[in-house]
Amino acid sequence: MKRVLVTGAAGMLGVEVVEAMRPDWEVLEADLEQFDVSNERETLSAVREASPDVVVNCAAYTDVDGAETHRDAAFATNAAGAGSVAKAAAAAGARIIHLSTDYVFDGAKAGPYTEDDPPNPVSVYGESKLAGEVEVRASGAEYLILRTAWLYGHGGGNFVETVLRLAGEGGPLRIVDDQRGSPTYARDLASVIRQLATGPGTGILNATNSGDTTWYGFAVKIVETAGLGDVRVEPVATSEFPRPAPRPRSSVLSLDRLSGALGWTPRSWDEALTEYLSER
Ligand SMILES: NC(=O)c1ccc[n+]([C@@H]2O[C@H](COP(=O)([O-])OP(=O)(O)OC[C@H]3O[C@@H](n4cnc5c(N)ncnc54)[C@H](OP(=O)(O)O)[C@@H]3O)[C@@H](O)[C@H]2O)c1
Repeated sequence: MKRVLVTGAAGMLGVEVVEAMRPDWEVLEADLEQFDVSNERETLSAVREASPDVVVNCAAYTDVDGAETHRDAAFATNAAGAGSVAKAAAAAGARIIHLSTDYVFDGAKAGPYTEDDPPNPVSVYGESKLAGEVEVRASGAEYLILRTAWLYGHGGGNFVETVLRLAGEGGPLRIVDDQRGSPTYARDLASVIRQLATGPGTGILNATNSGDTTWYGFAVKIVETAGLGDVRVEPVATSEFPRPAPRPRSSVLSLDRLSGALGWTPRSWDEALTEYLSER
C-alpha cells in the first residue's frame, strides 16, 4: 500500500483528504501538533521519518483579513512553510500536491482564469500563497499545485455555516453581490485529490466545483435549500461592506485542464451544496 502524508490534516480540507485517501492508502496525518511547516528542520526530519510516496500539503495560514496585519505569519506558513514541505518531499523522493488559491489573481479578467494567466494578488494572503507556489516549483520535488476557491466543508467554520447561523437568528442578511467565484465542497475536492494522487501529472491545475455565482447568490441558495426561504437576503456592494483585505471581483477558474486530467468535470456548486446541507 502506498503511503500519503497529509499536512494540515485537522483543517477543513485536510480532514476530507484523510477520509478520501484511507481506503487505498496508508494515511499519515500531521498538523501543528506534529510539526510546524514553517520550521524547515523539523519538517525535513518529520517527512524523512514518514517516508511517504505523496505529500498533500493542506497546511496554511487561511485568515485572509488577518494576513493584512500578520504578514510575517502568513508568509511563514504559506510561503516558507510550503517551501519546507516541498523540499522535504523532494528529499524523501515523494511527490507533493500543494493547495493554492484563486486569490492569486486580481479579478480584473472578464472570463474564467486559466492556469497560464499571470497571477497578480491584491491581498497579503494572495501574495503569500503565490510565493508558496514559487517555492514549491523551485523545490526540486515532483509537484502538482491545485488552485481552489470558496471552500466549505464539515471540518471547519465557513461561509455556509455563517449564513445558516445568521439566518437562524432571523436575518436580514446583507451579502456582497459584486464578487464572483465558484463555491467548492471540500469533500468533492478531496475526491479530485485522491484521483490525482495516483497520476503522474505535474504543474498547476485549477480545481473547484463547476459553475459560479456571487456571495449573494451563494447565500440565497444556502437559505433556500436549508428551508429558510422566508429569511430576507439583501445584495450589497463590496464598497458598503469594507474588509481589511481586498478580494478579486471575479476569480472564476477555468476547469478545462482539470477535466482533461480527470476524464470528468466536477459537479456544479449548487448540486454539491445540496448534498452538504443534507448531510450536516
Ligand atoms: N478555505 C478556503 O476558502 C480556501 C480557498 C482557496 C484555497 N484554500 C487553500 O486550501 C488549503 C486548505 O484550506 P482550509 O480551508 O482547509 O484551511 P484550514 O481549515 O485553515 O486548515 C489549515 C490547517 O493547517 C494548520 N496549520 C496552520 N499553520 C500551520 C503550520 N505552520 N504548520 C502546520 N500546520 C499548520 C491549521 O492549524 P490551525 O487551525 O491550528 O491554525 C489547520 O489545521 C489551504 O492551502 C488554503 O490556502 C482555501
